[in-house]
Amino acid sequence: MCWGLENRLSRIFQKDNHTIMLAVDHGYFLGPTSGLEVPKKTIEPLISFADSLMLTRGILRTSISSDIPVPIVLRVSGGNSIIGKELSDEDITVSMEDAIRLNVSAVALSLYVGSEYQHRTIINLSRLVDEGEKYGIPVLAVTAVGREMVRDSKYLALCCRIAAEHGAHFVKTYHCKDFRKVVESCPVPLVIAGGKKIPEKDALQVAFNAIQDGASGVDMGRNIFQSTHPVAMIKAVRAIVHKNTSVDDAYNIFNELQSK
Ligand code: R5P
Repeated sequence: MCWGLENRLSRIFQKDNHTIMLAVDHGYFLGPTSGLEVPKKTIEPLISFADSLMLTRGILRTSISSDIPVPIVLRVSGGNSIIGKELSDEDITVSMEDAIRLNVSAVALSLYVGSEYQHRTIINLSRLVDEGEKYGIPVLAVTAVGREMVRDSKYLALCCRIAAEHGAHFVKTYHCKDFRKVVESCPVPLVIAGGKKIPEKDALQVAFNAIQDGASGVDMGRNIFQSTHPVAMIKAVRAIVHKNTSVDDAYNIFNELQSK
């Protein structure tokens, strides 16, 4: 692996090989998602507790100060919306040159395995990896996006393995029953999405189970920024990901911080 690519990955994955990515890219197909109506207001207080920020170039340019020390994972796929016909009808939306100008630490693209446009998204992943390898930019493949997916270990292992086989340097997926099987059959690090907002303790349990099952971290959005107390929540998730804290202790951290 080239030094630049390794160096960028080491900014995202900390010394313990774990990471907390804050996902705030939802607007690329959902528009002003609940909790992210004014991105700057939501993101700013959370930045210093995240190991990286995952977002689009539009929000990066307009809402994030250029002097932040946190590495950026730039979403570079899109082209559809929640009110469109087929979400999987995506293409690459940002050139590698612009990603480099923005000094990002990785680029992210969605992979729609089993959807109508799976072929195009897999080929796009391969092209992005070719470009990334040329300039030392790691690629994150985002799997299992879509409304009708059965997110079991068989399907998620299929998605993650296909992503890795096509050269993704790390993969974002969902936690599921028998998640260890997904981890074991994927030769690159896995981070999990949080999914729809659920009660804080349940979301902490998901993060805990994922780490116990071998995930390298979380790339969590709604369960942090839609929490009643987003800063308390990201700190509680952080304790799980980096300190191996139990769910009860992490929930205590959340409760103590939210009452201040
Ligand atoms: C989906 O395509 C986006 O990459 C989201 O950022 C992702 O689903 C993670 O966010 P959440 O934890 O809200 O599911």
